[in-house]
This record gives sequence, structure tokens and C-alpha cells, in this order.
Amino acid sequence: MSTLQISGLTAAYGPVTALDGVDVTAAKGQITAVLGANGAGKTTLLRTISGLVRPTSGTVSLDGNDLTAAPAETIALAGIAHVPEGRGVITELTVEENLRLGALLGSARKRTDGSLDMVYDLFPPLAERRKRDAHTLSGGERQMLVIGRALLSGPEVLLLDEPSLGLAPRIVAQIFGLLRDLVDRDGVTVLLVEQNARSALSIADIGIVLNLGKVVARDDAAVLAADDGLRHAYLGF
Ligand SMILES: Nc1ncnc2c1ncn2[C@@H]1O[C@H](COP(=O)(O)OP(=O)(O)OP(=O)(O)O)[C@@H](O)[C@H]1O
Ligand SMILES: [Mg+2]
Repeated sequence: MSTLQISGLTAAYGPVTALDGVDVTAAKGQITAVLGANGAGKTTLLRTISGLVRPTSGTVSLDGNDLTAAPAETIALAGIAHVPEGRGVITELTVEENLRLGALLGSARKRTDGSLDMVYDLFPPLAERRKRDAHTLSGGERQMLVIGRALLSGPEVLLLDEPSLGLAPRIVAQIFGLLRDLVDRDGVTVLLVEQNARSALSIADIGIVLNLGKVVARDDAAVLAADDGLRHAYLGF
């Protein structure tokens, strides 16, 4: 598994600077949580890594290979899987058909390690519902489905944008627990963007706090979670 290295990343939407010289290292086999309030730049960071937003300066590399100027397709083929906010599934297709869409990218990458069985093993509710149309799923099950679909491409790096949004705390704990199992078992590199800082820090190895496009703190997740001043100023718990 791989290390994702982001250096001096700056990105803007017209006059609005969304990222301002951001350095992040997401180490192999770890969960790196990216935290911060509305508008901090979290989504822009993920969109810039996956080639959907072009940075004005800075670099993104995977295991030393510079991907900064690469098209989004090339970045996906290099093994960076982006699960955007919003749990987009194709509601007319079954759970299994949705998962097979992820496997298409896996076969394009000549990867065979992202198997359906592996995803069903990780997310048992999907196994029970494999023949059902995706529109019958709960929010938590849809979140499992979009993560599972990304896993079927056999990714080196998983970028997750606010997977907990709108889910009940019990479901968030379940999904985050399964994510931790996945990382511990298969060594996937995870960059987890969350406003739900408390939950994210409870499963992350490292936390990074963004504010107005700049990194204002980075440390072991347990250290950040115990920092009262930081929690009150930036993390909302
Ligand atoms: N498409 C866009 N056009 C113009 N400005 C944008 C666009 N997307 C984001 N921004 C601005 O860029 C900044 C960073 O936004 P971004 O969506 O990356 O933040 P975020 O941390 O993901 O916020 P949230 O927690 O609300 O999802 C904000 O000032 C936002 O208003
Ligand atoms: Mg966002």
C-alpha cells in the first residue's frame, strides 16, 4: 500500500482561495482524518487530489509519482478512489450491480483483490441485500455501498468525504468500526474528511485541522482529541 504526499497545495475558485499551501502526508495503512468547519477547504482538498480541481501551485504524489497535472482518469487508474459526499448510488440497479460498476475500474487497473466476497464480508448488510434495488437501502447501507464500490477497484488510497453526514450515531460508529477493520486488515491508505471530528478522531491515527484553507494543527488523533483549546476553537466538541 501507498503513501499519498501533498505539498504546498493551493487552489482557488476565481477570487476565493480554498486551499492555501496545504501539506498532508497520508501514510500507508493509516487513517488520516482531515477536520474543520464549513468552508475550511476539506472537499476542495479531495477534489484537487483526484484531479477534479486544478491547483494553482503545489504537488500531489503517490509513492513518489507526481500526479499533480494528471487527468482524473489517470489518477483513478493509479489507485486513488474518491467517494464524494452524498452517497450517489444508481437506485434502479441492485446492490450487486452497483458494486460491479466499481469492479470495472478494478479490471481496468488489472487488480483482482477487490472482490465482491471481500466487500460482503466487510459489510454484512450488503450481502443480505445483494439482489435488492439500491433505492430500498437505508442511508447507512448506501454509505456502505459507495465505500464497497470504491473498494472493488482495489484502491491504494481511499478518499472519503463526510461519510457520517446525516447518519445516526450508532450507524456512524458501525461504519467507522468497519473502516478501521479494513485498514488494519488490508492496509489501505485512508484520507477521511469529516465535520464529525469526535467520531473521526476516535478511529483515525493522525488528525489534520484545516481552517480557511490552511493547516492549523496536525498531530496524533488522540492528542488532538484531548486538546480542549483546539476542540473548542475548531472542532466543535
Ligand atoms: N464551486 C465553487 N465555486 C466557488 N467557491 C467554492 C466552490 N466550492 C467551494 N467553494 C468555496 O471554497 C471554500 C472551501 O470550500 P470546501 O467546499 O472545500 O469546504 P469544506 O471544508 O468541504 O466545507 P463543508 O464542511 O461545508 O463541506 C469555501 O469558501 C467555499 O465557499
Ligand atoms: Mg465539504
